[in-house]
Amino acid sequence: MRLNQNHDLPGTLIVVEGIDGSGKSTQLAILRDWLQNIGQDVIFTEWNSSKLISQTTKRAKKKNMLSPRTFSLLHAVDFADRLEQVIVPALKAGFIVLSDRYAFTAFARDVARGVQPEWVRNTYGFAIKPDLSMYFSVPVEVSLERICSNRQPKFYESGMDLNLNPDPYESYKIFQNRVIEEYDKMVDEYNLIKIDATNTVHEQQVIFRDIVRKKLEEKGCSI
Ligand SMILES: Nc1ncnc2c1ncn2[C@@H]1O[C@H](COP(=O)(O)OP(=O)(O)OP(=O)(O)O)[C@@H](O)[C@H]1O
Ligand SMILES: [Mg+2]
Repeated sequence: MRLNQNHDLPGTLIVVEGIDGSGKSTQLAILRDWLQNIGQDVIFTEWNSSKLISQTTKRAKKKNMLSPRTFSLLHAVDFADRLEQVIVPALKAGFIVLSDRYAFTAFARDVARGVQPEWVRNTYGFAIKPDLSMYFSVPVEVSLERICSNRQPKFYESGMDLNLNPDPYESYKIFQNRVIEEYDKMVDEYNLIKIDATNTVHEQQVIFRDIVRKKLEEKGCSI
């Protein structure tokens, strides 16, 4: 399993995980600007974005055609494509890769949907071990409040495919609490660095940047 072995590529892989609304995109956008301003080569990649597969996933999701296992496999194809096309080439070229979600998202969500933990970990057995894996932790109520400020919870992020509760908000709470439980288990299993994401954007960025700076220095980057 490559996720347990350090990679020997010159670049640095920084991964951010956490439930919806935990501030992953917000924090990575600020971190990316800072890294670019100090002259680092940075590339950003996000979950479910490979050109090869994301349209297929979207169509299948719309029709609610996916079982938890096929759902997991489609995301694994997306991930494999991005790993080969984007992440590994950038790491070989010495870039800092900022990944908005990584294989841990599948480990949390798919297991919350009832897929066997070993099965999903084996499916993603080709994933490279990140240099740094952050976990932005927020209670489900904070997550819901933040995402509802500009949109409704979506069908799959509420786990509506699982028939947990007919009310999308109640379903969201049940499903996302299961996801949180899985993330919490991964703190020890994969050394996720858990930080409190209920802080202000600024406070969270200061903590995040400090951890990133230390990691880059450890890897011999002068910043
Ligand atoms: N620390 C914070 N305090 C208050 N609001 C925040 C904080 N961080 C982010 N937000 C707000 O919460 C919302 C969700 O943030 P963001 O998009 O960064 O989350 P995310 O983790 O990327 O979510 P998703 O998984 O859905 O992409 C945004 O409206 C953002 O402005
Ligand atoms: Mg986001």
